[in-house]
Amino acid sequence: MQLFRRNRRLRTNDAIRSLVRENYITPHDFLVPLFVVEGKCVKEEISSMPGYYRYSLDLLQNEVKELWSLGLKSVLLFVKVPDALKDNEGNEALNDDGLMQRAIKTVKDAVPEMLVMTDVALDPYSSYGHDGIVEDGAIVNDKTCEVLAQMSLSHARAGADFVAPSDMMDGRIMAIRELLEKENFKNTGILSYSAKYASSFYGPFRDALDSAPGFGDKKTYQMDFANRSEALKETLMDIEEGADIVMVKPGLAYLDLVKEIKDYVDVPVAVYQVSGEYAMLKAAAEKGWLDHDAVMLEQLVAFKRAGAQIIASYFAKDAVKLLS
Ligand code: PBG
Repeated sequence: MQLFRRNRRLRTNDAIRSLVRENYITPHDFLVPLFVVEGKCVKEEISSMPGYYRYSLDLLQNEVKELWSLGLKSVLLFVKVPDALKDNEGNEALNDDGLMQRAIKTVKDAVPEMLVMTDVALDPYSSYGHDGIVEDGAIVNDKTCEVLAQMSLSHARAGADFVAPSDMMDGRIMAIRELLEKENFKNTGILSYSAKYASSFYGPFRDALDSAPGFGDKKTYQMDFANRSEALKETLMDIEEGADIVMVKPGLAYLDLVKEIKDYVDVPVAVYQVSGEYAMLKAAAEKGWLDHDAVMLEQLVAFKRAGAQIIASYFAKDAVKLLS
């Protein structure tokens, strides 16, 4: 054959493959989720997330120092709230001395330059395990937004750099932005979970925080996984309302949205590789059915290829260690 174009020439050996490689994973890509609990010297493995832990504040310090030394410079905090402190309105979320607020300060004390983002939603604080206030069996929107704004303000006061509302109430970005502006937290950013689907991939996360909904499901606020245009609508509205960064969640099953949103918007696009995605790979690798590290990297690069600029992932530390 006399071919003028032979694509395989660019795949001949590792050197040429690296030279033409279009996407790489680096430590700068990651946002590292961290689970925090009350207590001292606690490092508990989450049963459905092998190799992932809940930390008490003292051990959280060591963990963030280690992350920093690996080049991981951004964390996303989640707290496991004791049952006794949960109620329908999520009052504990507004406690300036609550676990989240202390966790923010702990991270900043340990590594002042670490970028601290915080989860903003009522579910870990809610006696119903819902992301909003419940009235007559329904999740009420507007009252919830008021609490989310107050919660964001409390996180900002404690030193959070970004708040990350994960609740999917209508208008919450505007409510949060308005209050932060009014209270002079003009540089506190918002990473919005703008296209967040009602997904069954969140199971292990809800184990981690003991935050599964006590009744019903989250389909009246999180999106129907059959929908695509709706993700664009949600995202564009969040940007109009003041989101600095938008996010698609879950990750792998939603790469079409990452690509579409990336092509459409001019703000950074993040993706959340969620707990169920982590658990699936860990389980398959444990059985010897998949090569853990190889599949992990393949998935992480897929997020970059789709256009994600930021990857929230439980694999961040594993990946960075592997690459270094
Ligand atoms: C809570 C929240 C959830 C996740 C992040 N924030 C769970 C949910 O919406 O039920 C899921 C993260 C994961 O599964 O890794 N608002």
